[in-house]
Amino acid sequence: MLRLYLVLLLTLIGFTTARAQSLEKAREDSLIEALLARMTLEEKLGQLTLYNGGLAQTGPVVMTADPDAVRRGRVGAVMNLFGAEATCALQRQAVEESRLGIPLLFALDVIHGFRTIFPVPLAEAATFDPQLAEQTARVAALEASAAGLHWTFAPMVDIARDARWGRIVEGSGEDPYLGSLMAAARVRGFQGKDLREPSTIMACAKHFVAYGGAEGGRDYNTVDLSERTLREVYLPPFEAAVRAGALSVMSAFNEIGGIPASADRRLLTDVLRGEWGFEGLVVSDYTAIWELLFHGIAADSAEAGRKALVAGVDMDMVSGIYVHKLAEEVRSGRLPEAVVDEAVRRVLRVKYRLGLFEDPYRYCRDPERERRLLLAAEHRRLAREVATKAIVLLKNEGNLLPLADTLRTLAVIGALATDSASVLGPWAATGRPGEAVTILEGLRAALPQTRVLYAPGYPEAPPGGFQEIVATALSPDTSRFAEAVAVAAQADVVLLVLGEHRELSGEAASRASVALPGAQEALARRILATGKPVVVVLMNGRPLAIPYLAEAAPAILETWFLGSEMGNAVADVLLGRASPGGRLPVSFPRATGQEPLYYNHKPTGRPPRAEEKYTSKYLDVHWSPLYPFGYGLTYTTFAYRNLRLSSSRLGLQDTLRLTVEVTNTGTRAGEEVVQLYVRDEAASVTRPVRELKGFQRVALAPGETKTVTFELPVEALRFWGLENRWVVEPGWFTLQVGPSSAEGLEARFEVLAQSTIRSR
Ligand code: BGC
Repeated sequence: MLRLYLVLLLTLIGFTTARAQSLEKAREDSLIEALLARMTLEEKLGQLTLYNGGLAQTGPVVMTADPDAVRRGRVGAVMNLFGAEATCALQRQAVEESRLGIPLLFALDVIHGFRTIFPVPLAEAATFDPQLAEQTARVAALEASAAGLHWTFAPMVDIARDARWGRIVEGSGEDPYLGSLMAAARVRGFQGKDLREPSTIMACAKHFVAYGGAEGGRDYNTVDLSERTLREVYLPPFEAAVRAGALSVMSAFNEIGGIPASADRRLLTDVLRGEWGFEGLVVSDYTAIWELLFHGIAADSAEAGRKALVAGVDMDMVSGIYVHKLAEEVRSGRLPEAVVDEAVRRVLRVKYRLGLFEDPYRYCRDPERERRLLLAAEHRRLAREVATKAIVLLKNEGNLLPLADTLRTLAVIGALATDSASVLGPWAATGRPGEAVTILEGLRAALPQTRVLYAPGYPEAPPGGFQEIVATALSPDTSRFAEAVAVAAQADVVLLVLGEHRELSGEAASRASVALPGAQEALARRILATGKPVVVVLMNGRPLAIPYLAEAAPAILETWFLGSEMGNAVADVLLGRASPGGRLPVSFPRATGQEPLYYNHKPTGRPPRAEEKYTSKYLDVHWSPLYPFGYGLTYTTFAYRNLRLSSSRLGLQDTLRLTVEVTNTGTRAGEEVVQLYVRDEAASVTRPVRELKGFQRVALAPGETKTVTFELPVEALRFWGLENRWVVEPGWFTLQVGPSSAEGLEARFEVLAQSTIRSR
């Protein structure tokens, strides 16, 4: 009876929710249609136009500022303008002084924090903890929305397999599984449960798609790859973002096999909307529509605009082509007005879902909230926690780390130790260097009894612009080596801070060599020659080729760019107040020439074997990575035992359950990232040597054992089959459970009977 009652109640709730949703949808549609019916063609094209509010720019300014554009209804959204008061003032123009009063959208690149800056996304991926990424995105949204923003151009979900590409820092690294979980987590964090809630902002999954596949790792360069790689590697994080509710997507700069992404109807419309059911808006990347001219697929800007709109790019980021050129295209009959209308509907829809038609000022009306939330103490606390969890211990010979806090003299060598701008990393929104803790400051605060000495060793970044900073960072200047050696000689322990200035990382910051820049390796040789115990602290936004350090330095800590609390977090880990537990979300090469380098590569017909000449390898460098994907040490040790499978024969609908016992065999507490990889042993197309299918970050006290359980649905073994659709094929699979992609316990299981799996 009770059961029946419950079933009835749930049905009723389901029915009521569905009814409320359909009513809401009807309201949304009728508002949109009513507006659309009143709009002139120029006003429609205005809604499709994103205008630069005037601050940071990453490309040429094509669209000239028309001070009256908002009042005339020629602008749908504004980027790079923020602050409760500034956004409210411009919103007033749109709402109160334009003919139809359609509110504007305000956007900014809030990539890893707004004012409180969190670790760069690559570092955050190293936590292997999507929940943390969700929390930092939530805080970023809280701060950004308090400053009047509705929309962030994040998360960046590009898979990056080439360390030369500077933008590897903005994403989650080389793995589509990790990348997908991080993408979805960030979307949830930014958008919350309800976009109308004024502390949430609309996410934008970018850059659609395969931007990270640039040839030679050179930014904005050509991409040419197979449909299979596109489906299996580059598209999954976008699909994950869309399924998590991302309401916007940015079309990329690059071409793929002859079709620029910002004019690719198959991808932007058939896949994104058709296959995945995406209902939001697609915005172009910065001047990407204009750049179709340079790609050579349009004879003039009108044609470029037409091609982009027809492909499915709804909003033109700053090139001004839609608003200036497309009215004529419609009037001449070259572009159906229905295509414009459809894009306008999408723009109005996201405005509706953000609640802007209900209250256009809901994000900006409370300057007090803005003052209270930006850089709030609890935001800084979260920044410190995430930063400690992102640090990866690469080497720790003789347990040199953690350092004792009774040290008498510590020498900190390396200009990056005092570089408060680099601490924030690229794309630091409104983060201020003056509010960030440098490594030197963090150590001095943590070690009040220790004499902490400092020498830059290599040149400090000059004030100046991008070019001066890059030239200095790459300069072979050795003039401050002697001073650094003298300082090191006085210390009990030396902390050698090496890596990249933040200007060497990020957009338009590709490097042909991923070795240590400038004279840094030469400096390391001199410092190591002093015979002092040396801990290398790396600060960088990409994998670096550091074979010399890996060989000669006793301890190496990868600390990336960790944001506002970097110095405190580095001190916490160096002194053992927090334990390092991050893992590499990217493979580290021995030499740049190995790039692109990634763990989930294909097997080749002649797998490398040292003793065999005619196998796939290099003459001068070992083929393997210096540090593999998933790698990272801790201050303790772990043992894996008793890998057990629920069954070794599974049907297509089954889920494999596997357990493994992990024991902390050392004397300190620590966190282990237990990783599950699978290999399809034989299939109709070649399969990667292994693919990540699960991970868990577990904390273990000394001596403690935990049983870690993974559920692996057979569907997760699908791949893009010979017939261009997802399949799981029967046969044998090997799985590996362990501490990195390069080691672990193995087991085999068999999948029985073939079928095609729908794309969900
Ligand atoms: C970048 C995007 C960014 C946009 C707006 C472009 O150059 O590629 O990632 O969102 O500028 O700042």
